[in-house]
Amino acid sequence: MIDEYGREISYLRLSVTELCNLRCRYCMPEDGVCKKRHEDMLTREEMLDAVKAAAELGIRKVRITGGEPLVKRDILSICRGVARTEGIEEVCITTNGLLLPELAKPLREAGVSRVNISLDTLDEKKYAYITRRGSLAAAVAGIKAALDAGFDKVKINTVLIGGFNDDEIPALAELTRRYPLDLRFIELMPMLDDREFGPEAYIPCSAVMKALPELQPEPQDKGVARLCRLPGALGCIGLISPVSSHFCASCNRIRLTADGKIKPCLHSDQEFPIKGLDHEGMLRQLRAAILAKPPCHQELSAQSPSHAGRSMNQIGG
Ligand code: 5AD
Ligand code: SF4
Repeated sequence: MIDEYGREISYLRLSVTELCNLRCRYCMPEDGVCKKRHEDMLTREEMLDAVKAAAELGIRKVRITGGEPLVKRDILSICRGVARTEGIEEVCITTNGLLLPELAKPLREAGVSRVNISLDTLDEKKYAYITRRGSLAAAVAGIKAALDAGFDKVKINTVLIGGFNDDEIPALAELTRRYPLDLRFIELMPMLDDREFGPEAYIPCSAVMKALPELQPEPQDKGVARLCRLPGALGCIGLISPVSSHFCASCNRIRLTADGKIKPCLHSDQEFPIKGLDHEGMLRQLRAAILAKPPCHQELSAQSPSHAGRSMNQIGG
């Protein structure tokens, strides 16, 4: 479906849970989120019905997100259901990777074609610090499992944080020379109530170009990343700049949260509830959400954080 500003909306980000086995400082508070009532969350059937309705309106790609999607008990049957939905051409998942040693192969068999794995540092102590409870070795084992499982693509997502991992840009980039991995540097987005980071943490993706002058431009794909490659590397490097140059004009996505709210824009608090609706009702809300998609979000900065009205784990990134 085409929105009011001529953008063709073909991409749904489906958050299947707000829960996570980590507590990344830019995403979640230390004590987790207050667990919502089970009956307020979408059931698997409702998620699949919403995906069917979205496909009828032209959604072709679904990315499963969270929280951490792999902590959801029926994640494989959700993925299978989404992959079997008529009209859906691509199912991807974004995960912290910790559960991939058990789940990579079953996910592949369930019809997931690509995985994105979050990894912000290659230093064990820094990994434990930023995730507040994770172990780097477990994340690396997850990445290896994903490479072994034969996905079409395995991507690493690195949130760029000034004073934390900007000194690791070359080491992280080096992964694309050694493994068939794509790496994406993502600018840290100031979310509400973010007392974890000072202004120095918010650095632009141009820091990557400065740290890696040998980067060469690559042909662009449909995504939001600016693509480049280290000479001779197996994988490419993408720069995602939601803060320094937002990509609203070509935004093709909507989001569905685990508690059943369609969000037309990540940085707006406008939400369209679908919990408990029948198929027609879902179609109506999806249409309304797409037509309400704003042309652009407000400027983001440490002084002017997102108006999302939720923390990242409650949206799905
Ligand atoms: N800024 C940028 N990216 C974020 N993510 C979560 N919170 C933020 C934030 N504040 C992204 C990370 C992580 C994915 C799950 O969500 O890329 O890999
Ligand atoms: Fe969990 Fe991902 Fe948020 Fe980290 S960024 S707390 S892994 S949902």
